[in-house]
Amino acid sequence: MTMQPTAPVETGRSLHDAGASLRRQRARESSARTYARSFPIVPVRARGMVIEGTDGRRYLDCLSGAGTLALGHNHPVVLEAIRRTLDSGAPLHVLDLATPEKDDFTDALFATLPKAFADKARVQFCGPAGTDAAEAALKLMQTATGRRNVLAFTGAYHGMTAGALAVSGGVSTKRPVAGIAADVTRLPYPYSYRCPFGAGGERGAELSAAYTERLLDDPNGGVVPPAAMILEAVQGEGGVVPAPDDWLRAMRRITAERDIPLIVDEVQSGVGRTGAFWAVEHSGIVPDAMVMSKAIGGSLPLAVLVYHEDYDSWLPGAHAGTFRGNTLAMAAGAATLRYVTRENLVERAATVGARMTARLDGLRAELPAIGDVRGRGLMIGVELVDPDAEPDSCGARPCAPALAQQVRAACLDRGLIVELGGRFDATVRLLPPLVITDEEAEAVLDRLADAIAEVTAAQHARRSA
Ligand SMILES: Cc1ncc(COP(=O)(O)O)c(C=O)c1O
Repeated sequence: MTMQPTAPVETGRSLHDAGASLRRQRARESSARTYARSFPIVPVRARGMVIEGTDGRRYLDCLSGAGTLALGHNHPVVLEAIRRTLDSGAPLHVLDLATPEKDDFTDALFATLPKAFADKARVQFCGPAGTDAAEAALKLMQTATGRRNVLAFTGAYHGMTAGALAVSGGVSTKRPVAGIAADVTRLPYPYSYRCPFGAGGERGAELSAAYTERLLDDPNGGVVPPAAMILEAVQGEGGVVPAPDDWLRAMRRITAERDIPLIVDEVQSGVGRTGAFWAVEHSGIVPDAMVMSKAIGGSLPLAVLVYHEDYDSWLPGAHAGTFRGNTLAMAAGAATLRYVTRENLVERAATVGARMTARLDGLRAELPAIGDVRGRGLMIGVELVDPDAEPDSCGARPCAPALAQQVRAACLDRGLIVELGGRFDATVRLLPPLVITDEEAEAVLDRLADAIAEVTAAQHARRSA
């Protein structure tokens, strides 16, 4: 396996600057720091897929702002839109007033939506983060239906504010927050490799759908009529778990038959990432609401909730907020949405993603710590396992979180930024920009394979010592 060495670049800054910044960050910022712990980098420059630290090292960024940067860092189209808007003298902050930029962004966004959805859609500009739009979706459906309970899935991630956290699956972030889990019914997401029914494959997904349906119809099942079901078509933070299209169609049928609004969270899976502009398009379902953020702002903060007009039940001010009119984000976002469409980046994500996934899958024989390779388009997950442990009934070996952390660090040594997610944070997640070149895709896989090989060889040597 070959690894391209990362060429250091002269920047005139010393390592000492980076060390001091990192020390100050550790001293001043909250202990909830996340990425900053795994990546001791002080970025000063970035372009496309490459990010450069104060120390002059360059990294291939396969995290892309947690899936935000559809066009990579500082794409010329995005910079041009921002510059043009700044030079135009447009107000940068206008609460929720109409602006030409908002009008144009809404045009651009609606043009990307499945037609059957766009034709009857309303949009709510939310606070700037994905969690704000998830929160808005839950509130809207609770208002529209007069119900409180929400159906949500194992492995889900919808954000960190109270409602979004309540419908998310991560136990450790919820446990310290009193009362957080109220009014949520948890359902099994079809995670083939670690199937909640121990069946896996299509059968596992069928069982998940059958369980959901029977539970909702069971007068003693304990589930009061729900205000909504919320799901991700491909779980991202949950370890890059794509739901089978048939399962999504089953969820659509089950919710429609019972008058339960279906909210699809496309915060991470949207804007071409999965090889469709929106991940729901793979299955052809039309949800009642879609939650969007990350890439729609072209790297600036923007979040919206788009929903069927029938649910437009809010009174004026029912979902107010100061930051609902980020002019620069709308300009950068509109430019991004149009560029993704114009340059066929959706198709590119599907092709490059399939190639990367196939190569990773091929590495499993050589690298038995790779338990599962899955994903859709350029949303790819590599679940790392203990190759020496016994497999379960689905053939899955136990997660290897320590190994995954070592692999992430070994990737960083090789100039590659990858993040972990999923159960026990044992899944390496690849979220490269849609503009990734063939050479960059190869370099990512070379570096990742080399890192896994080195870390597992060291583990093997330790175990046999
Ligand atoms: C599917 C999904 N929903 C919601 C969120 C929350 O977005 P934010 O971190 O911007 O609040 C995320 C973040 O990763 C996400 O992946």
